[in-house]
Amino acid sequence: MRILVLNNDIKSMQLYPRPERIFSDLEALGYGPEVPLPVDVLARFDQLHYHGIDALNVAISACKIEAQDRILEVGSGWGGCARHIAHATGATITAVELQADYDRVARDLTARTDLNGRVEHVNADFLELDIEPGTFDHAVSWLALFHIPRRSEYLEKLHRSLTPNGTLFVEDLYMIKEPDDDELEDIKQHLFPNSLVGEKDYFSSLEMAGFDVSIVDDMTVDWTEFTSDRLKSFRDSRKLYISIHGIQGYDIIETFYSKMASYFARGLVGGLRIAATRRN
Ligand SMILES: C[S@@+](CC[C@H](N)C(=O)[O-])C[C@H]1O[C@@H](n2cnc3c(N)ncnc32)[C@H](O)[C@@H]1O
Repeated sequence: MRILVLNNDIKSMQLYPRPERIFSDLEALGYGPEVPLPVDVLARFDQLHYHGIDALNVAISACKIEAQDRILEVGSGWGGCARHIAHATGATITAVELQADYDRVARDLTARTDLNGRVEHVNADFLELDIEPGTFDHAVSWLALFHIPRRSEYLEKLHRSLTPNGTLFVEDLYMIKEPDDDELEDIKQHLFPNSLVGEKDYFSSLEMAGFDVSIVDDMTVDWTEFTSDRLKSFRDSRKLYISIHGIQGYDIIETFYSKMASYFARGLVGGLRIAATRRN
């Protein structure tokens, strides 16, 4: 299996500086520090994947998530996926996030909702975290697995963390075309792609880790359009965004949105939505 490249600096990807920026968005709507937050208002800002809660609702129904279920989320960012799932289903979810600053902001946001201990935040590298085998009914992840090195190790760990017949739901990137040398440097800096693999390797590694894949949607066309539209509407709202976040804040996110739109438009990366079951 070809592993694209290793990068130790996740903050070089321009999505990740300044996680506190979400507080400025909320404040602009009248939700100052410590003010209670409705989960549906938060969901307008706290989703770091494509199509926000619509994508999460696909997972909830594909995995048939119910109130008594225990869920593991790998790479939880601001905690938006975990909060929506807990809010929509009543399930309990453990949200594992590598970056301490994102985890801190996520905890603050969750504490201001009424989720009553149904979202547990854990600041850890998923690879290093101790998890009792068979703890979770479902494992979920949005746009995080391609960041994590040692792909077979983390897939086996996901497998072990699940109950027999537990489900895995993942949205992730895969590599369509090998980048040339210039593209490689650019992707290394702006995508933090520590296990970006081709489609064939993606599925064979899941099989090898002990998963039976039941649903596959290739999201490439959809996400190419999504990232292009997102860039355009971000540029259209430049004035408003600068009034809240300043010009430097605008430039950082504009760089990230334009990089992602161009990786899709140039056919370098594609997207997958996958549901799978733990083989016993
Ligand atoms: C694109 S964000 C998506 C966040 C969230 N899933 C969402 O959709 O809103 C990916 C997240 O994965 C986290 N991540 C990357 N490597 C990780 C690791 N080894 N363990 C835990 N989290 C990791 C990143 O820090 C980042 O917050």
